[in-house]
Amino acid sequence: MSTSPETYNDKVVLQFSVMTVVWGCIGMLIGVLIAAQLMWPALNFDTAWFSYGRLRPLHTNAVIFAFGGCALFATSLYVVQRTSHARLISDKLASFVFWGYQLVIVLAVITLPLGMTQSKEYAELIWPIDLLLAVVWVAYGVLFFGTIVKRKIRHIYVANWFYGAYIITIAVLHIVNSLAIPTSLTHSYPIYSGAVDAMVQWWYGHNAVGFFLTAGFLGMMYYFVPRRAERPIYSYRLSIVHFWALIAIYMWAGPHHLHYTAIPDWAQSVGVVFSIILFAPSWGGMINGMMTLSGAWYKLRTDPILKFLIVSLSFYGMSTFEGPMMSIKTVNALSHYTDWTIGHVHSGALGWVAMISIGSIYMLIPWCLGLKDMASKKLIDYHFWAHTIGVVLYTVSMWISGIGQGLMSRATNEDGTLTYAFVEILKFTYPYYFIRFCGGLLVITGMTLMAINVIKTFQLAKGKHTNPVLIPIADAPHA
Ligand code: HEM
Ligand code: HEM
Repeated sequence: MSTSPETYNDKVVLQFSVMTVVWGCIGMLIGVLIAAQLMWPALNFDTAWFSYGRLRPLHTNAVIFAFGGCALFATSLYVVQRTSHARLISDKLASFVFWGYQLVIVLAVITLPLGMTQSKEYAELIWPIDLLLAVVWVAYGVLFFGTIVKRKIRHIYVANWFYGAYIITIAVLHIVNSLAIPTSLTHSYPIYSGAVDAMVQWWYGHNAVGFFLTAGFLGMMYYFVPRRAERPIYSYRLSIVHFWALIAIYMWAGPHHLHYTAIPDWAQSVGVVFSIILFAPSWGGMINGMMTLSGAWYKLRTDPILKFLIVSLSFYGMSTFEGPMMSIKTVNALSHYTDWTIGHVHSGALGWVAMISIGSIYMLIPWCLGLKDMASKKLIDYHFWAHTIGVVLYTVSMWISGIGQGLMSRATNEDGTLTYAFVEILKFTYPYYFIRFCGGLLVITGMTLMAINVIKTFQLAKGKHTNPVLIPIADAPHA
């Protein structure tokens, strides 16, 4: 038996952190490409695998599950060790989770452009990949909860509650929504039919937003915001109320994705009511994160990482105000099928999810390399401004274009005929597509700066440390 002191497993954290940056660059580059295709359709090059219809799900899978997923894996596996004062239960299992998840992503990158899909939004992957993902996810759960079980600190810090809820819920959602009868290696039929299939799909889809794109990232917020601000969380009591309220309410809001469809009217009303109530815990959490900065607001002036974290919270507040509004049926009648939805998605995705991830990864990479900070603070600052201006250009242009599209499509003449032809609405939209494309260019420029900074940080660490990952738990600076 080894007598060397126990250390944290930061190798897997570093691996996932680096892949967050890699998949972030790839996924967002595809985002810019499809934004360009909407502007200049010739960019489809009449090639099936390069067409918008195939690249769009590649974009959503790459940014949500590859970029966002790797950020969640990296931060959750770091936080659970530090707040439990315990090493992950198994290095082999950690390695399996890392390589297994990367394999799932690579298979998605190959199959989606080839047109192999189950055609369910955010659940496109074909059944063999779904199976692999289920196995990897269960292994992740064992790794996370096993570490909680062997913790040396009695209290389970609130960030772990959020991460835990996200891990359990995603397993349940993924398995239930993917139940299918295979007809070949690449094709299957869902076991649900018609309206039931739609309800299961949007129970999945909305809770993927609630638990993947929200709960997991709130776990990140509850650890990295107080760490960066060097202040305890504003109200620990509020964080517990926030947790239980959020997970109890999110589950019921899914039908707001299916307004005016064949699902029962009462189910749509349940979706509206729960979406509106959801505003309260969402803002409670946002305020809790923001107020953690009380007495430390001055740090925002000089710390670009803190800027990323706090601006992400303002986008979280914005999108969780907008979401409940859009869930009201009369508002949804205007917003659905328009770019307003796309604006809402990206204020949540690029504003909240990407910014909190980027801020946290800027903290994690140097820590895992035994350094205090990234190689260049200036580059982080440039990244912050490029990203923020990019997101504002993206969301504002989509709001204007979406509301315009909604109003133009419902305008009628006195004799009841439509005022605008479809092509006129399209012409109105083009300038905004161009602005969105420019916003995307700024965002991807920022991601490139991040990649350069990561390479520089690795070079810096190489000169300073021979084996930076092995810090005994008892001496670890971030416990
Ligand atoms: C450079 C940054 C990005 C650009 C330029 C971009 C661009 C796009 C475009 C053009 C679409 C298709 C819109 C349509 O069908 O009308 C789209 C969809 C989508 N993107 Fe992005 N995106 C970016 C970053 C992200 C990030 C970071 C995330 C998530 C973390 C994300 C999540 C999504 C989702 C979920 C959809 C589907 C929305 C829906 O179906 O309503 N995107 N994106
Ligand atoms: C209180 C919180 C929220 C509520 C009540 C809410 C509500 C809504 C509503 C009503 C829609 C439009 C459905 C439609 O017309 O098809 C929508 C779409 C969407 N929202 Fe939210 N939203 C919330 C927060 C968020 C956040 C924080 C994110 C991202 C991080 C997000 C991501 C999305 C996505 C990806 C879609 C598009 C789904 C699709 O592909 O059709 N939402 N949301």
